[in-house]
Amino acid sequence: MSNADELKRQAAAKALELVEPGMRLGLGTGSTATHFVALLGERVAQGLQVIGVPTSERTRAQAESLAIPLADLDTLQTLDLTVDGTDEFDPALRLIKGGGGALLREKIVAAASNRMVVITDSSKAVQTLGKFPLPVEVNRFGVEATRHLIARESALAGSSGEIRLRKEASGAPFVTDGGHYIFDCAFGIIPAPEDLAARLTAIPGVVEHGLFLGLASAVISAGAQGVTVYGS
Ligand code: A5P
Repeated sequence: MSNADELKRQAAAKALELVEPGMRLGLGTGSTATHFVALLGERVAQGLQVIGVPTSERTRAQAESLAIPLADLDTLQTLDLTVDGTDEFDPALRLIKGGGGALLREKIVAAASNRMVVITDSSKAVQTLGKFPLPVEVNRFGVEATRHLIARESALAGSSGEIRLRKEASGAPFVTDGGHYIFDCAFGIIPAPEDLAARLTAIPGVVEHGLFLGLASAVISAGAQGVTVYGS
């Protein structure tokens, strides 16, 4: 296991301590969340009873392979705890997510949860969001018109930079689990995340954006100095 991977596993192990029998859990997506699902699978194999809602088809496949019982939000409606990774977090526990392309389901699941706990290695900490290109999920219809509006509205919120359509290695556009495209917006810094979020949400072609504001109640960050918990 690489050093970064070991740190991700340590953060996941700390989050596992929050899991109690009977909990309804949101299961995140990405290389850090994968560790959490793997550790949860071990506990389930030992008899822990929980039920999970996956945030992507990838996580669904992993959870199924570990025999973690799954449900959907149509049945459960609310969850006790979601554990997910992040691409960036700032001191106010605001996040950029969506590097793995699962931001829409991740946000729906997080919003349905009483508590969202983020697990990460310390390299994802920033003072100001925006170093990681902001993923914006868009409807395929009128995609270039939507790109134009994203550029205009982002500039009004003080953020500008290249807005790139995410592509697969083959050159074909990346398509999300929901059947949408993603623009990765290389803003560098996002001085006004709330303003930007409101402006992006108001664009009809935008399905969802990767700014997770006011959703995370804690960030568990593993680094060379050990595991630090921000928030509660
Ligand atoms: C998936 O869409 C993302 O939001 C991931 O949670 C995020 O990109 C973190 O991924 P890693 O844990 O792989 O860094």
